Amino acid sequence: MKRIGILTSGGDAPGMNACIRAAVRTALAHDLAVVGIRRGYAGLVTGDAVPLDRGAIRNIIHLGGTVLETSRNPDFYTEEGRRRAAEAIDRMGLDGIVLIGGEGTFHGASLLAAENDTAALVGVPGSIDNDVYGTDYCIGFDTAANCAVQAIDRIRDTARSHERLFFIEVMGRTAGFLALESGIAGGAEELVIPEEDLSIARISERIGAGFTIGKKSAIVVVAEGKTPGISFEIAKEVSERLDFDSRVVVLGHLQRGGPPTLRDRVLGSLLGAAAVEALLEGRSGCMVGEVGGDLACTPLEETWQKKKPLNENLRRIFLFLSE
Ligand code: F6P
Repeated sequence: MKRIGILTSGGDAPGMNACIRAAVRTALAHDLAVVGIRRGYAGLVTGDAVPLDRGAIRNIIHLGGTVLETSRNPDFYTEEGRRRAAEAIDRMGLDGIVLIGGEGTFHGASLLAAENDTAALVGVPGSIDNDVYGTDYCIGFDTAANCAVQAIDRIRDTARSHERLFFIEVMGRTAGFLALESGIAGGAEELVIPEEDLSIARISERIGAGFTIGKKSAIVVVAEGKTPGISFEIAKEVSERLDFDSRVVVLGHLQRGGPPTLRDRVLGSLLGAAAVEALLEGRSGCMVGEVGGDLACTPLEETWQKKKPLNENLRRIFLFLSE
């Protein structure tokens, strides 16, 4: 192993820069040459790389986003695109690549490795959705969840003052991690998550029950699921049933930006270093993660084929903490 590449792919996540920095510093400590592949798989297909030395990763640990930039690249969804990527990897002379991203990134990487004799590939989970199997937390989740909690706190002030029902929509795609944890931390009255069937009757009943015991406002945290903007429909139906004024706030991409929290910087640093160490140990086709406080290496296929479960204890306690 002499020369490695690093890329970030899919949705950006705060803490990716801490991860890039850690991977570069670990590589340099082992006398590896490092290049940054720009704009994720878009740059991998065309061989768009820049040298990464100490200077390039200085003063980036506190920055959100990714200095390497990212993309969701349609070329990489095709076998032809992945063949071009393998050729570019050869041209760039890479022995290994650290891929920082989520499920889609690792799906693409699995196909690239299955179809081509290419460099060693090691993944690092970076996604605010936290939906990657093989790690308790993904880089970026903590920052996004804290952003959602701050928003809930602010909205609670005005909800209380106006005696209103608020629906706050968070990201997470088809997973409810962001909604569940920010809902618990923000003291929400109700949750809508993709892991449960949507029931307007149940939401209305639970909010209504709160009003009968003296609550004058309520907050429902809604996971965007497959239909971002779904909260407007839910809010309208619940409001009509309860005959109660409501408002909707969609947090959207606000959750993806801003300085990474301590947890995301530490996790990014830990996993960035672990990914390079895994390459040096001769590993390939796996993702480094943290499970139960220990480092773990999970086959890339499992990271997107297996469904990561929500924390059942959190789901259980939410039911009575929200009453
Ligand atoms: O996967 C991360 C994520 O932020 C999802 O929560 C969200 O559904 C999606 O990306 C938004 O993607 P885009 O930035 O391409 O609109």
